Amino acid sequence: MDNVLYFDAAASALKPETVIRAEVDFLQNAYANAGRGICPRAAVVDDMIARARGDVARFINARPDQIVFTSGTTDGMNRIVNIINDRVCGAGIKNKTVMVSDLDHHSARLPFELLYDSDSCKIVLCPMDKEYNLVCSDLPRADVFVITAMSNVMGCAQDVAGLVATARKKNPDVITVVDAAQYVVHNEIDVQKWDCDFMCFSAHKIGADTGLGIMYIKNPERWISPDKFGGGMIAKITGSAVEHNVAFQWENAPAKFEAGTLPLTQIIGLPVAIDYLSANRPNLDLIKYLYDRLSKNPRIRIITPRDSALLTFYIPDMHVLDFGALVGARGLCLRVGNMCASWIHKALGIDGTARLSVGWWNSIDDASRACDIIEDVIK
Ligand SMILES: Cc1ncc(COP(=O)(O)O)c(C=O)c1O
Repeated sequence: MDNVLYFDAAASALKPETVIRAEVDFLQNAYANAGRGICPRAAVVDDMIARARGDVARFINARPDQIVFTSGTTDGMNRIVNIINDRVCGAGIKNKTVMVSDLDHHSARLPFELLYDSDSCKIVLCPMDKEYNLVCSDLPRADVFVITAMSNVMGCAQDVAGLVATARKKNPDVITVVDAAQYVVHNEIDVQKWDCDFMCFSAHKIGADTGLGIMYIKNPERWISPDKFGGGMIAKITGSAVEHNVAFQWENAPAKFEAGTLPLTQIIGLPVAIDYLSANRPNLDLIKYLYDRLSKNPRIRIITPRDSALLTFYIPDMHVLDFGALVGARGLCLRVGNMCASWIHKALGIDGTARLSVGWWNSIDDASRACDIIEDVIK
């Protein structure tokens, strides 16, 4: 690889050799489609996908039938809106109250915000404390509650179990939806402890490949209609709309929610990435090192606490895109801008920030060199 200092794990993680090898091995030696063929090779792939699903289920303390493969967190969050807003059966969430928060990434909040227009939903905000953490006290009553388990700007783990429990006290039927895209990188997830209805994360942020995500559904059979239609999710079709007597019978979950060919290669790599992540979580002492060194520089304003999983900061008299370009030209990759999280930036009163995030490949020497570059650019 080129000689860059890659401090952008929170955008996407670099891939361990073991993941790359597993994918190449599958492509070269075992490739076939899954869920369609009966030849021995197809049966082997079916088995590999079933084992991968089981591994993912164990990783978050769920059952395999609660695990749906998606193309990422964004896909999952958009699909959840369509699944709970079941237009096929006419259930819908019209005129309901949806609670979101200023910690949300655009992909978690926008699909729900748009219900305001199309389904006359009321959108309310989850309260935050002075440190920008979600708080259980004074939680408004909601029918749907979107919870960002860890903001990609603030990097602090939220009390998901407490928030879910409090929301349920106000409304036992509340549907709770957790965005765990950042949380999963740094923490073990136990969906049973959280007791949430849905949870999403992206494979690429934990060292697996792009184009794959996980959508956990607590009660997959509760949601009557799938949101996507095609091969692999239909058990039986009788008649057709042409004959005015169409009737479908869906497969059971999770197949019901997995229309079309799955991203097989990426799925094969995911359990390998999970194993690697479990043994090689990002070393957050590097974040503390970055915090301790950069907080001494009077030109830098750090907005994340020292024990955050990220270091987010800005330089008051320098445009964040200029800063990003200057450090990038010196070989330091970090994220700059609004991080697809404009609401938290609005709450902070700034347009954009710079973010350093670490993965298994970063060393203390890297962190020191990253600080040298930042100090040099703003001196
Ligand atoms: C907190 C959070 N939610 C959702 C997403 C969207 O993930 P993806 O782009 O993989 O769908 C991200 C990506 O940065 C994120 O940080």
